[in-house]
Amino acid sequence: FPVDKIRNFCIIAHIDHGKSTLADRLLEMTGAIAKTEKNKQVLDKLQVERERGITVKAQTASLFYSHDGQEYLLNLIDTPGHVDFSYEVSRSLSACQGVLLIIDANQGIQAQTVANFYLAFESQLTIIPVINKIDLKNADPERVESQIEKVFDIPREECLRISAKLGTNVEAVLQAVVERIPPPAGSISEPFKALVFDSNFDHYRGVVANIAVFGGRVKKGDKIVSAHLSKTYEVNELGLLRPEEHPTQKLFAGQVGYMIAGMKDVKEAQIGDTLYHQEQPVQALPGFKPAKAMVFAGRILEQELDNYPGGVQHAIERLTLNDSSVTVQRDSSLALGAGWRLGFLGLLHMEVFNQRLEQEYNASVIVTAPTVPYKVLLSSAKLIKSRRAVQKNVVYIDEQRVMMKYLFPLNEIVVDFYDLLKSMSSGYASFDYENAGYQAADLIKMDILLNGRPVEELTTIVHRDRAYSTGKAMCERLKESIPRQMFEIAIQAAIGSKVIARETIKAYRKNVLAKCYGGDITRKMKLLKKQAEGKKKMRRIGNVEVPKDAFISVLKRK
Ligand code: GTP
Repeated sequence: FPVDKIRNFCIIAHIDHGKSTLADRLLEMTGAIAKTEKNKQVLDKLQVERERGITVKAQTASLFYSHDGQEYLLNLIDTPGHVDFSYEVSRSLSACQGVLLIIDANQGIQAQTVANFYLAFESQLTIIPVINKIDLKNADPERVESQIEKVFDIPREECLRISAKLGTNVEAVLQAVVERIPPPAGSISEPFKALVFDSNFDHYRGVVANIAVFGGRVKKGDKIVSAHLSKTYEVNELGLLRPEEHPTQKLFAGQVGYMIAGMKDVKEAQIGDTLYHQEQPVQALPGFKPAKAMVFAGRILEQELDNYPGGVQHAIERLTLNDSSVTVQRDSSLALGAGWRLGFLGLLHMEVFNQRLEQEYNASVIVTAPTVPYKVLLSSAKLIKSRRAVQKNVVYIDEQRVMMKYLFPLNEIVVDFYDLLKSMSSGYASFDYENAGYQAADLIKMDILLNGRPVEELTTIVHRDRAYSTGKAMCERLKESIPRQMFEIAIQAAIGSKVIARETIKAYRKNVLAKCYGGDITRKMKLLKKQAEGKKKMRRIGNVEVPKDAFISVLKRK
């Protein structure tokens, strides 16, 4: 394919505005997949994506399309919509020249529409606004076009109106991709240069890298070098993603595809790395900014994960290769043994990561309360008053919508702010955030004790004014989530040695065999097994059994 017949583009949108549905239609229309009910959201390959109906990982598909008697190669990269996965979006954009910005005809511009628009705008990509779901009864494309003109300064004439669900006007989307998005810049005559924009670990074949070829060509058997480690590899296999792997002999400038080159260690396939030919070194591409973790999960315990062959270290390393926005630190403590401290971009991101560890690596995990990063200054003058939310600016998008910016302490929004905002506004409000840096505040460390023993996972940093109410609420919620046991349990919140709240769980003897009179042995075994399974979901702290989910539920405000 000559470079001028190639188009690389992404679909970006606020969550649920219809990216995956439009991707399905585009794949069907270009014959990449058959038109059947089964082929719903084909780019959502992961089990967690199908279960939750959301996109977590960006996926790539090469499509063949004829227009005006010419054949085009369109490389489509589907991206996640949720704010927690915007790191995936910005990586995908680096392999593209244009984007389809999908906006729901009923909901109009939402927080993530704005955030994604700016990602594309800053990368100087061609932006094609696509108003989707025009088949809905309450669709108001006129109003959405006015919003687009006002907020993004894009003339309304450039907007396409479609229904991805029904296929209405989707052909116009393909035409716009060919006519408006420029071809990639590289040429075949330059030395080979490619960007690794994603990678996966395959249990049998090692690292599978997704690459965008920026210049020259590469073929099977070539000796290539990764700029990051200056290590040489031989290309074993390469090809297009349609969206299944489709091996080819060569990849050329402008193309997007996959490559397997005998990389066995996950550290060898750095996302953002540049690949070149052994004899023709090139200047490395700028790569990506490392992701900034916003939520930290506490530990994942080693013994909980040892049913994965190769151990937990491998499971976590391989999964983080596929999701490079997770930060990982080895961590160990006398009380809890060896573990990891993982950093995520948000709560949903954390939940999805855990689900993937369980589903793809068969690992049962304990995740403890998320905490946010603090910088602690060890000085006596921390007397500066804390700041609550401070309003920064207000923009009216139209008569019905307003965009407000606030400065918040991260700790105030990290657990349930988003859920609360959604329920208070009956689902109408949407939310996005970026890091505004550290601010001094009057914070203290609060411990939670079970029968006098501090529970490290529940130690939190709280604002001094909130310590009493937070401590009381945490004790109350723990009382609800810890079952009665054979002895009395004291739940206490303490600052240093001072106890500020207390709840008590009365002793109770739960004898599961009490109902088994007559010595029916199979029934007895069944009940004991059930009890053992229940125990697996528990964590022992001192002599107290604590259900694993208590660690998260204790943080949610009522
Ligand atoms: P994420 O991948 O999670 O970010 O979501 P998404 O943007 O890919 O949205 P998705 O394609 O999953 O669509 C969300 C919902 O909107 C689904 O229930 C679709 O069936 C529905 N939907 C998508 N396009 C249309 C449309 O044109 N009309 C109508 N009525 N519904 C649509």
